[in-house]
Amino acid sequence: MAEEKKLFKVTIDNITIDVEPGTTILNAARQIGGDVTPPAMCYYSKLQGSGGKCRTCLVEVAAGSAADPRPMPKLVASCRTTVMDGMVVKNITSERVLDARAGVVEFLLLNHPLDCPICDQAGECHLQDLSYEHGKEGTRYEFKRRTFEKEDIGPYIQLHMTRCILCYRCTYVADQITNNRVHGILDRGDHAEISTYISKAIDNDFSGNMIDVCPVGALTDKTFRFKNRVWFTKPVDAHRDCEKCCGKVTLWQRGDEVLRVTARKDQWGEVQSYDSKPGWICNTCRFDKKHVNDWVIEGPTKISRHSVISQGHYVGMQKPKETMPEVMGGRAPKLLMDIHEISEVNSVDISALPGPATSKTFEKKEQ
Ligand code: SF4
Ligand code: FES
Repeated sequence: MAEEKKLFKVTIDNITIDVEPGTTILNAARQIGGDVTPPAMCYYSKLQGSGGKCRTCLVEVAAGSAADPRPMPKLVASCRTTVMDGMVVKNITSERVLDARAGVVEFLLLNHPLDCPICDQAGECHLQDLSYEHGKEGTRYEFKRRTFEKEDIGPYIQLHMTRCILCYRCTYVADQITNNRVHGILDRGDHAEISTYISKAIDNDFSGNMIDVCPVGALTDKTFRFKNRVWFTKPVDAHRDCEKCCGKVTLWQRGDEVLRVTARKDQWGEVQSYDSKPGWICNTCRFDKKHVNDWVIEGPTKISRHSVISQGHYVGMQKPKETMPEVMGGRAPKLLMDIHEISEVNSVDISALPGPATSKTFEKKEQ
C-alpha cells in the first residue's frame, strides 16, 4: 500500500489548514481564501520563477515550525517562503505587516502616475485596489518622477513605462510561452525599464498574454485603448475552435459590439487553467475575432460582487432578497408621502434670497 503523504499544518491568521510540503505561504493562504490571502503584484502561479520582486505579499512568521517555534525576525515574502509543519503566520492580524504593506504601496506609487481616470486598466488594476486597501492619501516623495515616452511593443500592444512596477511578469510570458523574447528589463535600479531591443516589434502569436498578466496599465491592448471604461462593458464567456490555443475567452461587449477579448481570469486575477494547463489565448482570438458571430456564447462571466465591473450591470449577481412584502403578507410597500408635496424647498423664490441676484424662481410642481 502506498504510504500516505504527510501534510504540514500551518496556521494563518488563526485559521489552520493542512497543505502539502513545498507549498508556499501565499498558496496555503489562497487555499483558505478571503482576506487571509496576501496581495500579490508580481507572483503569478502559471509563470515559473515569478514572485519575490514587489514585496506586497509580506507576512509575519510568528512561529517557524513545531520543531523550532521561534519567530522569524523579519517579515518574509509569502510567495517565496515555503511552509513548515506547525508554522504560525500572521497577515491581516499583524500590525507590522499592515504597516509594511502601506510602505510598499507608497514605494510602488513613487513613480506611478495617478492617471486612473484615463487609464484603460482602471477598474481591474491590482495597484488601484492595493492603493485603496493599503495606501495613504499623501506622498512624502519630493523628487522629480521618472517619465517615459509611450512605446509600441508590436502592432497590438502599447507600453506606458511610467505605469510599470517592474514585476517581470511580461518578460516571463515572453520567455515561457512565446518562442522568442525580444523585450526585457534594461538597466538596473531607478534606471530599470521594460523595453524592446532596437524597438523590435513583438509579433509572436501569444504576445497578447503580456497584457493579461500586467497587473497595472503599463501594457494595454491597442485595439481597446480609450474605447470604453471597463465597467460599462458586459463580460461574456465564449469559446471557438482554435487550432492555436484553448479558444476559451471573455468577450467584453457593449451591446452586440465586442470591444475587447481577453483570457478568462480566476479569482486571483490569473488566467484560468483547463485540465491543469493555463488557458493562454492566441493573438488571433484576442485581436482578430471581434464579432459575436465568431464565437459560441456561453453566458455572462461571473464577476466578484465587490468589483467595480459588476456595479454597472450586476452580471452574475444574486438580487438582494426583498423582505418588505414578506413581512407585509405579500403586499408591496406603499410610499408614505411624496417629498414634493411635503417640502417647500422647490417653491422658494431664490431671487429674494441674499447673495447674487437671479431671476430664476422655482415653482412648486403642480400635482
Ligand atoms: S510592463 Fe506590466 S507586466 Fe511588464 S514588468 Fe511592467 S508592470 Fe510588470
Ligand atoms: S507577490 Fe511576493 S514579492 Fe511580489
